[in-house]
Amino acid sequence: MTSSALSVEEDDIRAYMAEQENKTLLRFLTCGSVDDGKSTLIGRLLYDTKLIFEDQIATLEKDSRRHGSAGEDFDFALLVDGLEAEREQGITIDVAYRFFATPKRKFIVADTPGHEQYTRNMATGASTADLAVVLIDARKGVLSQTRRHSFIASLLGIRHIVLAINKIDLVGYDKMVFDRIVSDYMQFSADLGFETIRPIPVSARFGDNVVERSGNMPWYDGPSVLEHLEDVPVGDATEAAPLRFPVQYVNRPNLDFRGYCGTLASGRVRVGDQVVEARSGRTGNIARVLLGDADLDEARAGQSVTLTLEEEIDISRGDMLVAPDNRPQVADQFEARLVWFAEQPLLPGRQYLLRTETAEMPATVSALKYALDINTFAHEAAKSLELNSVGVVNISLGKPIPFDPYEENRLTGGFILIDRMTNATIAAGMITHPLWRATNVHWQALDINRTARAEQKHQKPAVLWFTGLSGSGKSTIANLLEKRLHADGRHTYLLDGDNVRHGLNRDLGFTEEDRVENIRRVGEVAQLMTDAGLIVLVSFISPFQAERRMARELVGEGEFVEIFVDTPFEECARRDPKGLYAKALAGEIRNFTGVDSPYEAPENPDLRLETTGSTPEDLVERIIAWLRARGFVA
Ligand code: ADX
Repeated sequence: MTSSALSVEEDDIRAYMAEQENKTLLRFLTCGSVDDGKSTLIGRLLYDTKLIFEDQIATLEKDSRRHGSAGEDFDFALLVDGLEAEREQGITIDVAYRFFATPKRKFIVADTPGHEQYTRNMATGASTADLAVVLIDARKGVLSQTRRHSFIASLLGIRHIVLAINKIDLVGYDKMVFDRIVSDYMQFSADLGFETIRPIPVSARFGDNVVERSGNMPWYDGPSVLEHLEDVPVGDATEAAPLRFPVQYVNRPNLDFRGYCGTLASGRVRVGDQVVEARSGRTGNIARVLLGDADLDEARAGQSVTLTLEEEIDISRGDMLVAPDNRPQVADQFEARLVWFAEQPLLPGRQYLLRTETAEMPATVSALKYALDINTFAHEAAKSLELNSVGVVNISLGKPIPFDPYEENRLTGGFILIDRMTNATIAAGMITHPLWRATNVHWQALDINRTARAEQKHQKPAVLWFTGLSGSGKSTIANLLEKRLHADGRHTYLLDGDNVRHGLNRDLGFTEEDRVENIRRVGEVAQLMTDAGLIVLVSFISPFQAERRMARELVGEGEFVEIFVDTPFEECARRDPKGLYAKALAGEIRNFTGVDSPYEAPENPDLRLETTGSTPEDLVERIIAWLRARGFVA
């Protein structure tokens, strides 16, 4: 293909499109930083395959003279980096996909900008790629980032590697340097499960072995990068895999038509085939396969189609139509590997949003089993995951979802985690297997239920959740309130941070992870106590919005009252009832809330109590009035 392909007559375009249709597609990404020559290599591939349009070449020539670092030659990095600058001017996409083609094959290259968010962008690009070009600066050899990128590529299911040992001109085209780097890499990557690793000595700047084979290295008789990309066999595994059709939406324009729209994640589907809905087990037979308005006999992995069934069965968004003889797992707990992208560490127990191909739901990392050392792959005990690290976790969901192990299906086995506060993508996940132990535990239906227990006590159960800084007055107010309720004949219980930390939570300290777990347990206990029919007063600093929200969702809207005891830090430090502020400010206590551990004040508490200027008795009257007005107490 040449750049003039876009200006030819329509017939030629059709012929060209048809020709493109029949070529195989290779998706790849490049790993390495800008300094390693990533941009130069991509620029070179695009340029030497004549895919830069004429006017772009002219600009490039001008730009290189002005800012280039490559003397009189074109600076190919400017081409790719120029596109990045464009991106900075407003549209923020993390990964740019570039398309190019040769007479043999079509290519999509994921171009991932090499700044701090590199791991995240790389993981995004890698999740759909067949091959990774790992760039190594011949002068530097295998670096820890080379290992990190290769490890993540392997985790994300990439099975083919091109080891581009770049800047070979700067080491005098030396075979010994090349051989040493190759042997280092082979040794390190032996356990990463790559099917092919093709080392190639290149100079992206001068074009040696990028598109054309170089005359500068008679000792190398292998292919150029492009030749290898054209020939490496990547069979389309997804088409051969069993049918997975996640339903994106149900199209119901009138009563006579009900179509299920989505993209085949894997396999094929034919008119007349029997399919089963993964979760419910309901079966049906395919009546029509529609691509737009056209009826097809069959659809294959990657095609976006509408399916209709002979029978009326209840299927909705997020369900999955699958092959009856090869069904996916269905579970609400599973083990997964996580690549953690966020600045703030993973906190086991905290709720995140989990997004799959079709569904989005709250999810909790119920256990961090271990972290994986990027260099040695050793399992390491860990309490949390830091930026760019990898770990193995158990995840628990509110309801079961259908999935496959990531090894078998990258689309139905992959997910991302999203921070509920910031909406940022914080991790990529790869499911390894379901956790059956937990799915075999079912709710027991008990004859005496929460309504019966509450009725016997003549009260409406509730959780009155007091949050605020240490010394803000939570326990004082809660204690007085409980006395009032008790005197009125209410059945109550007061859960107090200091007290619970002597028993149930005595294994927990004041790190972020421990506070998350502290509040998770207290939320669960409070919920059990409302089940028992009690009015529960909870007095914990509970500094994080995420866990307070989790407690609210656990207990249920309508039974959860968030009371913010709003005393300014200075006032708490002045009162200092336990002498802790003095110690914390002197640096004798670590992780003290408000000093070196954060307090996230509630934005919309049900009640806000300002303790300066009111007595605790006044504030209790306010709470009682509030509870009366809403029917919590008569
Ligand atoms: S929470 O943050 O996990 O909700 P919790 O309410 O259980 O805290 O415990 C707070 C109480 O522990 C404080 O009232 C104080 O008496 C005591 N404490 C001891 N060390 C700390 C600390 N580093 N930060 C906060 N409170 C502490």
